[in-house]
Amino acid sequence: MFVPIFVEVSVRAFSRVVATSVLAVSLPLLAPVAAAQQVHRLDDGLARTPPMGWNSWNKFGCDVNESLIKGIADAMVTSGMRDAGYRYIVIDDCWQVYRDTSGTIVADPQRFPDGMKALADYVHSKGLKFGLYTDAGTNTCQGRPGTLHHEQQDARTYAAWGVDYVKEDWCNSRGLSAPTQYRLFHEALVATGRPIVLSICEWGSNAPWNWGPGIGHLWRTTGDIEDTWTSMLRNADLDAMHQAVAGPGGWNDPDMLEVGNGGMTDEEYRAHFSLWAILAAPLIAGNDLRTMSAATRDLLTNREVIAVDQDSLGVQGWLAEQVKPGEQVWVKPLADGAKAVLLLNRGDSTAEIRADWSAIGLAPRARARVRDLWAHANRGAFTGGYAAPVPSHAVVMVTVKAD
Ligand code: GLA
Repeated sequence: MFVPIFVEVSVRAFSRVVATSVLAVSLPLLAPVAAAQQVHRLDDGLARTPPMGWNSWNKFGCDVNESLIKGIADAMVTSGMRDAGYRYIVIDDCWQVYRDTSGTIVADPQRFPDGMKALADYVHSKGLKFGLYTDAGTNTCQGRPGTLHHEQQDARTYAAWGVDYVKEDWCNSRGLSAPTQYRLFHEALVATGRPIVLSICEWGSNAPWNWGPGIGHLWRTTGDIEDTWTSMLRNADLDAMHQAVAGPGGWNDPDMLEVGNGGMTDEEYRAHFSLWAILAAPLIAGNDLRTMSAATRDLLTNREVIAVDQDSLGVQGWLAEQVKPGEQVWVKPLADGAKAVLLLNRGDSTAEIRADWSAIGLAPRARARVRDLWAHANRGAFTGGYAAPVPSHAVVMVTVKAD
């Protein structure tokens, strides 16, 4: 879905005034500041910047096991991803098989013969953090036991295993209230005394941008991503609609990365990664880190782009301007006063895309230095705007800093 420019600009103009305010979706777009509602995001020291890590689902589905996870943890270190900021190794659906007679959740003994505690210890020994998946309903999306009526017990089990991150899904939840169930599990996690990131995964179906802050550290804003250009853009556009609620402690989540999974070109993956960075989205890789190409590794470890995502100001970027259909300028203000700017060409042929200073919040006559974050090159100083040719299904990503 394409979000009209005037929507984005209006929301931004509003939220720039009160950086931590949320604009209820139903309010008129030029609502007075007084109509804003404060967003109370979690303030527990976790997820002060968008979480970074890896999750098994996009590439491996249910085919998860101990040696895979150890291999991924090893590759996270040897590839340089850990040092670039990636931390969480998260096992998605299908690690669990049943509950024992005391109701304790049991990891598949064939696939995880040493158990989750030993696996968490291994991941921790690499300087990484460990995460698991569960579901708020009776069963997970793949039919494994869910957390319903076992919230405290599961939270205690996870804490005892050394879990640092839980993704909680929403399958088989008929008749349940999402805010109630997620709050219950949040409170159960807090009661363990262990710092654990809570990833809310109900696909945006119960407007989690309205209640997720204060309950979880990230909340999905969309259905599942597919490894296609169209799906990736759809998720980015949907996520962008909730720009004003994101910030340190709580982030909109347009779903995990598909970079390196083969369905898009490297240029399209660069666009995917750049959009996620502009959106201050969690950067959760979803490819096989053990066998990835050098091109994929370089893409996932581009520190200049990661720095945009992880910028301490914690403002989600937005669509600033679309001069022609598919030729877009996105902007994200950074803590040092610079702007990260993404020139995105969604069209079928190369286009010259121009970011006007006035569209990205700089004085129209300002002189500003431009640095290209994919070319790792300074482009010089420009007055009024910056234009660059952008191939089809590709991006140019720069920072712009006024002198
Ligand atoms: C849902 C979630 C996905 C993944 C699968 C696992 O579809 O949205 O991210 O966790 O379940 O079954």
